[in-house]
Amino acid sequence: MKNIYLLGASGSIGKQTLDVISRYQDKFILKSFSVNKNIAFAKEVINKFKPEMVSVGNYDDMLQLKIEFPNILFSFGEQGLIDVASYSNEDGYLVNAVMGSAGLVPTIAAIKKKRDILLANKETLVVGGEIIMPLVEKYNVRLLPIDSEHSAILQCLLSGKKEEVSRIIITASGGSFRDKTRKDLKKVSKEEALNHPNWDMGSKITIDSATMINKGFEIIEAYYLFGIEIDKIETLIHRESIIHGMVEYNDGTVIAQMAIPDMRIPIEYALLYPIRNKNEYKKIDFEKIRNLSFEKMDLERFPLLKIAYDVIRVKGILPTVFNAANEAAVNLFLKDKIGFLEIENIVISSVNNAKNIIKPSISDIIRVDKMIKEEINRKYEGK
Ligand SMILES: NC(=O)c1ccc[n+]([C@@H]2O[C@H](COP(=O)([O-])OP(=O)(O)OC[C@H]3O[C@@H](n4cnc5c(N)ncnc54)[C@H](OP(=O)(O)O)[C@@H]3O)[C@@H](O)[C@H]2O)c1
Repeated sequence: MKNIYLLGASGSIGKQTLDVISRYQDKFILKSFSVNKNIAFAKEVINKFKPEMVSVGNYDDMLQLKIEFPNILFSFGEQGLIDVASYSNEDGYLVNAVMGSAGLVPTIAAIKKKRDILLANKETLVVGGEIIMPLVEKYNVRLLPIDSEHSAILQCLLSGKKEEVSRIIITASGGSFRDKTRKDLKKVSKEEALNHPNWDMGSKITIDSATMINKGFEIIEAYYLFGIEIDKIETLIHRESIIHGMVEYNDGTVIAQMAIPDMRIPIEYALLYPIRNKNEYKKIDFEKIRNLSFEKMDLERFPLLKIAYDVIRVKGILPTVFNAANEAAVNLFLKDKIGFLEIENIVISSVNNAKNIIKPSISDIIRVDKMIKEEINRKYEGK
């Protein structure tokens, strides 16, 4: 039996992770989990999986739950995420499916407990890749991606040696606005932005896909996970979301990984790695697909993807600023406080105006992340 410590149980990835582990009750046991605001769902998970420890977003919700479930340990807030990730002295997997930079510190706590990390929360590597990767090595833990593109690349990399890779190609569906011009984007609504053509995901990553910053985060994630130079990591529009990632080797051979767009496939691959079990998920019907299309990624059309290459070349605190400004801007967009294109303006101006810090410490990252978010909220919400 493997212990599972799950951050972000009430999210899109969290729920699909619970679905997968409930199919393997003989292999996995949910020891601890977190939700932020979805207390009703936390109660369902407690009743179904009988965990030992749970964390919620705020103190009052925790007190309520303590009355209802006296035999369970509870925690809350930022410390709660650390408590979930480092709960107990047994081994097991941290599945990090929380949203945003909140995933960084608990990931570090789990690595220090010598726990393998199954990572959906790409923001952890965007803001903390320089700190996380040496810790993964030092504590000799495994860091496996849940992101479908990175799961694909991990599988494609099994075909050759790292030195033989000529490029990595991360595919992108193109997001909700793939057929709109920049002029059209001036008047798009939140509802349109949230309507992703291929994937059913949490609202923040759906907006990140529409602005294409999500691909920017993914090139940074790939850079750290696979240790491949940034100039060898490319993106390509592939509308069908059937090929999730490709690796080209020196001899011109390209290995691609295909599957229908269902996040349970990469979640299960990470959980069972390297074993492949039979499952009931839908399989590809090639006769129905008929066509797999590819289009060049237009960096003028998606400036945030270009900035992602810039910030990871410079490094220091810039990736943290890039991510924090985006988190704040997406939150404002979801609250109808700003228009879609203002997300880009906020991120670009925050990165342009930032003073860099070479080799930031964890406390630098936490401080700058908070400062950038507060500055943007003050400017647009007056608080
Ligand atoms: N969805 C996908 O298909 C997909 C694919 C690849 C990678 N990812 C990555 O996986 C992560 C999760 O994505 P998602 O789509 O599952 O997100 P989501 O549906 O929005 O869920 C986010 C989860 O994090 C919790 N949460 C949000 N803000 C928090 C905070 N400040 N502190 C503590 N918990 C917080 C939420 O709790 P409540 O709901 O209880 O408030 C929820 O459990 C993201 O990093 C995303 O980029 C997602």
